[in-house]
Amino acid sequence: MAAGSGLREALLAQLADGYFHSGQTLATALGVSRAAVWQHIQRLEALGLDIHRVPGRGYRLATALELLRPELIASALPPAARRLLRGLDVLLETDSTSERLLRDTAPAPAACFAEHQTAGRGRRGRQWLTPFGGQLAFSVSWVFASLPPDFSALALAVGIGVATALRAEGADEVGLKWPNDLVAGGRKLGGILVEVTGEPPGRTRVVAGMGINWRVSAERLAALGQPACDLAALCGDRLPPRNRVAAICLASVLAVFDRFARDGFRAFREQWPEFDALRGQEVMVSMEGEKLFGRAAGVDAAGALRVATASGLRRFMSGDVSVRMQP
Ligand code: BTN
Repeated sequence: MAAGSGLREALLAQLADGYFHSGQTLATALGVSRAAVWQHIQRLEALGLDIHRVPGRGYRLATALELLRPELIASALPPAARRLLRGLDVLLETDSTSERLLRDTAPAPAACFAEHQTAGRGRRGRQWLTPFGGQLAFSVSWVFASLPPDFSALALAVGIGVATALRAEGADEVGLKWPNDLVAGGRKLGGILVEVTGEPPGRTRVVAGMGINWRVSAERLAALGQPACDLAALCGDRLPPRNRVAAICLASVLAVFDRFARDGFRAFREQWPEFDALRGQEVMVSMEGEKLFGRAAGVDAAGALRVATASGLRRFMSGDVSVRMQP
């Protein structure tokens, strides 16, 4: 009999196909009682999995789920990424993949993926929800010998890397909303958070965390408080295998770190307009209680957002502001 999270993993493996499984079949397969199956089903629901239960038929996932698997991600990594990567963790659950890599002293670069985060965090101290299996939630660590001077633009470069990877995988409409949102059709597809530990400007461990909606129910998307979308809807029938997309995104982030460490943001800046969802849009910039209106005009060499306002061109650094498109 599998115990604890092992049992949950075994139960998930049974349910992943999206077909009905009776309580008795599951109990027999796992070597536990039907009551234990029911308890674990409840726990999975609490983590954000949508499970249908029909009397007489049993339980099934609302849609089939391809669980992330380290061996599948590793085997889909291009050789350059495989050479760089020094650690890969794939977890069913953790507090935050970024927190895990920040407190880790293991060699970098390393990557950590999780199907569910209990304390996922977003930009500006916000909470980041990760419904079980509904996202690609992962973080990548990198150690800089010394922080590059234009380090604040790293999140933009990572965004370019991830958006390029997603477009290559069929999500053609993916763009970037400065500074760190992945968007498509004016809706948020995901977010990027770059965090630092160590003693800048010396040897510094940097962790980039990405949360990309994979398949999230309409109710959960609606509850996010802003228009949001997922890759399943963007790609439709052409949705590639989840482990493959995970690998391609990871490889892209590693390549961005590698390039940024050598050349900084100047290696990426001219790609920004290709992805810039704000360009030419009327925006509202909020900063320390103040609101400014203007027309977005791309980013400068430091990755700052440029906004043409009534009182002239203003620039904003990412830490301090939030930007909204005006209808
Ligand atoms: C944002 O849009 O505010 C950024 C969200 C970043 C979320 C990801 S999910 C993986 C990693 N772990 C975290 O706790 N946060 C990032």
